[in-house]
Amino acid sequence: MSTVEFKNVKKSYGDVKVIHDFSLKIEDGEFVSFLGPSGCGKTTCLRMVSGLETNTDGVISLDSQVMSTGKASDFVAPENRKVGMVFQSYAVWPHMNVFDNVAYPLKISKTDKGIIQEKVKEILEIVELTGLENRMPNELSGGQQQRVALARGLVARPKVLLLDEPLSNLDAKLREKMRVDIRNIQQRFQITCIYVTHDQIEAFTMSDRIVIMNMGEIVQIGSPEEIRNNPANDFVKDFITSNH
Ligand SMILES: Nc1ncnc2c1ncn2[C@@H]1O[C@H](COP(=O)(O)OP(=O)(O)OP(=O)(O)O)[C@@H](O)[C@H]1O
Ligand SMILES: [Mg+2]
Repeated sequence: MSTVEFKNVKKSYGDVKVIHDFSLKIEDGEFVSFLGPSGCGKTTCLRMVSGLETNTDGVISLDSQVMSTGKASDFVAPENRKVGMVFQSYAVWPHMNVFDNVAYPLKISKTDKGIIQEKVKEILEIVELTGLENRMPNELSGGQQQRVALARGLVARPKVLLLDEPLSNLDAKLREKMRVDIRNIQQRFQITCIYVTHDQIEAFTMSDRIVIMNMGEIVQIGSPEEIRNNPANDFVKDFITSNH
């Protein structure tokens, strides 16, 4: 069981305010997409959930436990948040083979070797990379590398999975397949998922709810149907009609 909550979250870099007043509760097992133009603050919000960034004000909670308030004393370190993350540039480590890339989160949490073997085997089957354990990243296609990154995000069975434009480097056909695969994995393991994208097709086909963002603010929150049928304003209307 895992919920994610933002309460009046703000983020500044020096004098520059990039997130103004972000409030949102994501339910257990829900798949929520953050959709919006480049620079609107999607990655920043995701990184604040993982603990790779800190909010300047407001509260971020996981499962009703406070992770961060902007005060150093409240801050829970990323490794203690049980959150998996797949980054915008999918960043598999070039000097490690597939097995070691995927096993990494288990190794740093000092998991028993036998269990690592078992869990890596299981997750590689799910993402259809069995047999490629010893390949180095430069011997893999873009889509295979993307799946290594996904396996690494999932291997420790996180309660919350954060995905930052995980399909942006793939061709259209593979992107379509991965959309379905990610949604299936998410439902099978009942993972609470935040999926960042500027591609409305991804957001509309995968999500339970979509959060439309612009310039550090939430413009609309709703199911794909609600947003398609009742765009809150001209920005949403233009964004969802022009962004094919
Ligand atoms: N370290 C930083 N210092 C100053 N400003 C930053 C920093 N990181 C991000 N920003 C600014 O914060 C804003 C939000 O950035 P963010 O990366 O969250 O956007 P995004 O919605 O993920 O965009 P994209 O779709 O291009 O990935 C941008 O205007 C960006 O320039
Ligand atoms: Mg981004």
